[in-house]
Amino acid sequence: MNEPLLPPIGMLAELTHRCPLQCPYCSNPLELLKANRELDTQTWLDLFSQAADLGILQVHLSGGEPTLRRDLDQLIAGLSARGVYTNLITAGVGIAEGRIEAFAEAGLDHLQLSFQGARPATTDRIGNHKGGHEKKLETARRARAAGLPLTINAPIHRHNIEEVPEFIDLALSLGAERLEIANVQYAGWALTNRDQLMPERAAVDRQAEIVAAARERLTGIMNIDFVTPDYFAIYPKPCMGGWARDAFMVAPDGTVLPCHAAQTIPSLSFERFGPRSLAEIWRNSPAFNAFRGTDWMQQPCRSCERREIDWGGCRCQAMAIAGDAAATDPACAKSPIHARMAMLIDEAQRAAAVPSPGEQFVYRRIGVVTEPA
Ligand code: SF4
Ligand code: FES
Repeated sequence: MNEPLLPPIGMLAELTHRCPLQCPYCSNPLELLKANRELDTQTWLDLFSQAADLGILQVHLSGGEPTLRRDLDQLIAGLSARGVYTNLITAGVGIAEGRIEAFAEAGLDHLQLSFQGARPATTDRIGNHKGGHEKKLETARRARAAGLPLTINAPIHRHNIEEVPEFIDLALSLGAERLEIANVQYAGWALTNRDQLMPERAAVDRQAEIVAAARERLTGIMNIDFVTPDYFAIYPKPCMGGWARDAFMVAPDGTVLPCHAAQTIPSLSFERFGPRSLAEIWRNSPAFNAFRGTDWMQQPCRSCERREIDWGGCRCQAMAIAGDAAATDPACAKSPIHARMAMLIDEAQRAAAVPSPGEQFVYRRIGVVTEPA
């Protein structure tokens, strides 16, 4: 039985796909939108107003790089005027003098800053941006000076997994109240680069031990969130907290989506804000209703005691690996094709061991046409 539909709580607003970095694990779609496809200021403000009416309590302003929007302080002020908690998710490079202070003045509540590495050379290489690390350190200092609470986000993969202890020290030194050790999820650009990004099993085990010890040591000082790498898990995560259950996202052109990778499910079509209101899309969109609750589930999820804990895992991962968005997430040990995850890990290790000529990663770029793995 499906539970009654409740209002959503959180919304991720991808204001733009433009970004000065080119991370090969970016969760944005492979087909990135150019600036001329982005919603204008007034349309975003109307959307935020409808989101507040709908019950949204938190908005995460993201991208691409959201600070590339010149109207960002206006957008923050619009949300703040409606009492919505605003979190800015930024790569923290190229932010002009005075802007962070202006965001804080407009009512920004929190800043989340990503580091591609704990060491400058790693940050610069993974983001393909020279001098990026120094700029991020400066952004963190300015955010703290402006009185903003700070989270450091560390997307983890094979090329920086050994830096986890240094990420912990870095976050502490920057006065962060939270550190996210977020193992890369294989969707979007990360799926294209999966073989290069997949860590080794021994490194994953070491990382889990280091994080567990640090969590204990830093209780009351800094929170550490840990996203276990799916391919090494026994049970999947409740992706997005369950499909269209209490959160959704909006792409730069106003397309309203249940999750980052939803557009990889070919049987679904998604609606845009403008022609339809947010409330109509949230309640009635066939794509939103496709995997809500538990009625859509097949076995083994249908009769599983965890079905209202993880909601069957990730629909997009089921699509990518099982070829069926309604299948049990193959990350789950109960999935009939769970063994495929271990095979994909082994394949990735073999592929990564072969030195490749030229570029190691397919870096994220607008206009590059590429195929998922
Ligand atoms: Fe979750 Fe389905 Fe696995 Fe049960 S069978 S643990 S509901 S993914
Ligand atoms: Fe789409 Fe997990 S990314 S449901």
